[in-house]
Amino acid sequence: MAEPRKPARVRITAATVRADFNDPVAVVHYARAAHRLGLWTSERQLIERAFPDREARLLELGCGAGRVTLGLWELGYRAVTAIDFAAELVAQARALVAERGAHGVDLLRADATRMPLVAEDDPALRRRCRRVPRFQGALFMFNGLMQIPGRARRRRTLREIHRLVTPDAPLLFTTHDREDSREERLLWKLEARRWARGEQDPRLVDFGDRYFEDEAGRTFMHLPTRDEILEDLAVTGWRSEYDIMRRHVARESAAVRDFSDECRFWLARALPD
Ligand SMILES: C[S@@+](CC[C@H](N)C(=O)[O-])C[C@H]1O[C@@H](n2cnc3c(N)ncnc32)[C@H](O)[C@@H]1O
Repeated sequence: MAEPRKPARVRITAATVRADFNDPVAVVHYARAAHRLGLWTSERQLIERAFPDREARLLELGCGAGRVTLGLWELGYRAVTAIDFAAELVAQARALVAERGAHGVDLLRADATRMPLVAEDDPALRRRCRRVPRFQGALFMFNGLMQIPGRARRRRTLREIHRLVTPDAPLLFTTHDREDSREERLLWKLEARRWARGEQDPRLVDFGDRYFEDEAGRTFMHLPTRDEILEDLAVTGWRSEYDIMRRHVARESAAVRDFSDECRFWLARALPD
């Protein structure tokens, strides 16, 4: 009898990640959080500190179903452009902002690695791009940047954000830190041995990647080291201002801890060109 066919073990791409976020399991998970959970205490504190001007034009990347987008609106930010490449999640975000009367939030389905936007004063000719005033701040919350497979593409995204913001604009984002605890350091030591033997999950792109399934559906996530992010910021036009683990910012509710693991917040500033 013929052997049952094993599922394809092809390398994860942006298309894999987008399909996973468009999956109904993920859509329900993120829509529920957008409707019921809202901003974490740590997010609220760091957003208010990073963006003191409520009139500032803000670019939010990886907005998902609008959890942070709506949180920004509720804090009084009125000039927010939010983008995500998962059409189903953008549809959820649109429905949520309409339901809550959050008028003026500009929601776009777009890929953060090549945004269809160009700054008004940028002489570059970019076809099919909308000209926009430069953003005075940007956010990529809840590890969205780390869900872009491949370090080169994550760096490209940081450059993309940089080309759309004013000099010195703050960028607030989060990542995991795979060296944060002793347990993690041990686990990643074992994983390093697997990579050295060539026995890692063949779907992974870089060391530090994970691809797993839980109540949020299938998730691709790159878990960086702190040094890796400092290097990525330095070569993409950003200066790291501070970074801090979430537990040192605020004690989160059980609901927030259920929804999200510990993470590191980063605040970087755009260097002039
Ligand atoms: C962990 S979810 C966070 C969603 C939302 N910000 C929240 O906190 O609930 C990460 C989001 O990043 C989006 N994302 C990942 N890669 C992206 C890309 N290349 N361009 C645009 N969005 C992307 C995903 O579609 C997903 O909605």
